[in-house]
Amino acid sequence: MAGRVLRHLVNGVVAAPLRRYSSSGPKKVTLIPGDGIGPEISASVQKIFAAAQVPIEWESVDVTPVRGPDGKFGIPQAAIDSVNRNKVGLKGPLMTPVGKGHRSLNLALRKEFNLYANVRPCRSLEGYRTLYDDVNVITIRENTEGEYSGIEHEIVDGVVQSIKLITEEASRRVAEFAFHYAKENGRKKVTAVHKANIMRMSDGLFLRCCREAAENHPDVKFEEKYLDTVCLTMVQDPNKYDVLVMPNLYGDILSDMCAGLVGGLGLTPSGNIGLNGALFESVHGTAPDIAGQDKANPTALLLSAVMMLRYMELNDYAARIEQACFDTIKEEKYRTGDLGGPAKCSEFTNEICRKIEASH
Ligand code: NAI
Repeated sequence: MAGRVLRHLVNGVVAAPLRRYSSSGPKKVTLIPGDGIGPEISASVQKIFAAAQVPIEWESVDVTPVRGPDGKFGIPQAAIDSVNRNKVGLKGPLMTPVGKGHRSLNLALRKEFNLYANVRPCRSLEGYRTLYDDVNVITIRENTEGEYSGIEHEIVDGVVQSIKLITEEASRRVAEFAFHYAKENGRKKVTAVHKANIMRMSDGLFLRCCREAAENHPDVKFEEKYLDTVCLTMVQDPNKYDVLVMPNLYGDILSDMCAGLVGGLGLTPSGNIGLNGALFESVHGTAPDIAGQDKANPTALLLSAVMMLRYMELNDYAARIEQACFDTIKEEKYRTGDLGGPAKCSEFTNEICRKIEASH
């Protein structure tokens, strides 16, 4: 989130900016290390932040689900209290059991804190060759509803219905956010991604909200594109796009595709921006196949932490850490295995710290 801090949007109206971080002294930030490789990459970020002497204090919380009075499993109260107190957090990946056990904690966190916009910058890294070397797109995904509303039921044996919920309030909120994001970050164009030709009512409503937001922001170019067209064009020429805004499921898939264009999930950061704070997270999962082996690439979580610093207006620290990270990736010998390099997570981390300390 280069430059300026993002603002709260309430029902599409810009409310008070998040400038509560300007008070002196270290700011507390909630840290959810997560599962699998989560603790390793979180430790890496903490070490790099310490090397850069970032004026924040980590408040580490455990989000292992606990059984509530209603018998259902959910996020422990202490973790909820910590995020509510600090208003900003960094989160490692969390394991979701498939088809059984507790529901996705990622979804629960988004719902609990009303984190309505998921922002993912996808930029090519200098010195790391991929199919295209000039990708620079931002996907903004509605984060609270759509197919992920969790409303599913069996009508009769063998017939299951899943509800895609689209509301005017959530659509307008994320559409307005996209235009504000574009303006605050010097972006020129917002593309609304939809399938309103098929889902005329639900995607139609989403699109209408985007059109209305576009009218409020005539200085930002606006276009509408079908999801399938965007997928096709994105892999042929990613330069055609700038900021993309879309409903939940489309955003989930398209943002991973964009991550693939710049080198994969190990490199892609994200921010979940809410009405009452923000949670930054790497977009990859717990990588159980390499957990505990010092093989993980901490870049995605580190760049998420850099986004967080910009959100907190700690821009100088963000710039220094980001530069050290990019410079380290440029040198092939410090790349981790997912980028085709020989380095361990700890070696990559130590080199970033060395570069930061050398720049003091
Ligand atoms: P995954 O992202 O964990 O792994 C896919 C592949 O990418 C694996 O080969 C893994 O080794 C590699 N990989 C991922 N992150 C990496 C990193 N930082 N450095 C090097 N290699 C990396 O996806 P998968 O296997 O589908 O999911 C595993 C678990 O993670 C599941 O329980 C899933 O629910 C959860 N998950 C959690 C997410 C979150 O908390 N935001 C997001 C996606 C999945």
